[in-house]
Amino acid sequence: YAIGVDLGTSSVKVLLVDQNGRVVSSVSKPYPLIQPRPGYSEQDPEEWVEKTVQALKELVEESKVPRDDIEGLSFSGQMHGLVLLDENYRVIRNAILWNDTRTTEQCKQIERELGGKLLEITKNPALEGFTLPKILWVKKYEPENLKKARVFLLPKDYLRFRLTGTIGMDYSDAAGTLLLDIVNKSWSTDILRAFDIPSGICPPLVETEDEVGRLIPEIAEKCGLSPDVKVFAGGADNACGAIGAGILEEGKALCSIGTSGVFLSYEKDKNKNFGGKVHLFNHGQKDSYYTMGVTLAAGYSLSWFKDTFANCQPFTDLLEEAALSPIGANGLIFTPFLVGERTPYADAKIRGTFTGIDSSHTKRDFARAVIEGIVFSIHESVEIFRNYGKKIDTVISIGGGAKSDLWLQIQADVFNATVIKLQNEQGPGMGAAMIAASGLGWYPSLKDCTEAFIQPGQTFEPIPENVSRYQAFYQVYKDVYPHTVAIN
Ligand code: XUL
Repeated sequence: YAIGVDLGTSSVKVLLVDQNGRVVSSVSKPYPLIQPRPGYSEQDPEEWVEKTVQALKELVEESKVPRDDIEGLSFSGQMHGLVLLDENYRVIRNAILWNDTRTTEQCKQIERELGGKLLEITKNPALEGFTLPKILWVKKYEPENLKKARVFLLPKDYLRFRLTGTIGMDYSDAAGTLLLDIVNKSWSTDILRAFDIPSGICPPLVETEDEVGRLIPEIAEKCGLSPDVKVFAGGADNACGAIGAGILEEGKALCSIGTSGVFLSYEKDKNKNFGGKVHLFNHGQKDSYYTMGVTLAAGYSLSWFKDTFANCQPFTDLLEEAALSPIGANGLIFTPFLVGERTPYADAKIRGTFTGIDSSHTKRDFARAVIEGIVFSIHESVEIFRNYGKKIDTVISIGGGAKSDLWLQIQADVFNATVIKLQNEQGPGMGAAMIAASGLGWYPSLKDCTEAFIQPGQTFEPIPENVSRYQAFYQVYKDVYPHTVAIN
């Protein structure tokens, strides 16, 4: 048996799989976001450790699998979050997360000082969510904290450190720091030097699939696991989501709707950067890459709507209600820019809208408009790929957006592509379990493992009449952004 740990933004999810990829049990434990000011988003790393240990303990107990039959464990984690450790490897301040947008000033500084070099080295532009702007923010506003820093880590690397005692960062996650030369797979001394960041704070780099140690005996004991469990580095949640959905060769594309929404495509050509309009990161499979566009508030928009206006009604009920509203939600359009937007606007200040509210609209129209707005936003990434000549005709859909037939059909109609859901889809946690499974030698490669573990499920074809109706609404949706920029 092997375990996948997915350290997400709203919870940690752990799952135990057998050698055929069958999920024996899974446990999830939520933790809060700390949002002391608008645009700030932090978490207490200690909470990740506590909740993961609790979740692992319950997982082992519930599964009834003998402790010594669990052989390996790996990780998937929310990307970009900055964790600073002091000389005793203690956390210096709360982690600043990927959806924190306080760093606009630092992004401008990076673009100003590095110019075209940034895209050349990292293949990405400076965006608020990435790690380097967060380091520069700490340097400017909390200089004593950066001075104390012995090393910086990303969320799942900190968790791994606490479980194994070993420090390191894998390439798929390091790619999202804006400090990695992603083609040469090394920390960029040019970038570090430009901002006077000591290179010593960068952790050693490892492959996502590398074995990085064993569990600390005390932790193993607390989790009910053997200290001989082999631990593999693991990767960024988007890389792991892609692995868990079998996106490991050219021509494969993924739509993942969790807190954020991602449209991701495997990329053979590591020098292709789509003009910096979508991100290009190292994949979890050695020496491969993927490109992706990100909607910051995807599932988050629906959960905000649910908690704010729908009396915290379960998602399933809300989606059933939304299905009673027709395509275009009776003329109601939602833009999901609740916390700013990444792709295609890279605008941390923009905020969301409902447009076209009519006195006859009811909650069902609002719920449908939210779902459609999220998919429209993801479609803006699809359009970038297509404009750069990428063919997108089949999309695997995972995450919350793949749990509802309504939502899957909306994806097929808006993307004008075949959308496939997976049987028993488990998101990035499954990708993490696959990393452990192939690391343990159960399969010759990660790709062989994905082929054995993944079975395609229901297919959703675009319906031509719906496609053209959505195209009309999508044009209106796109018109909203330029007219709401000035609101800020
Ligand atoms: C990707 C990103 C998000 C997080 C969510 O660049 O910021 O998708 O990885 O966990």
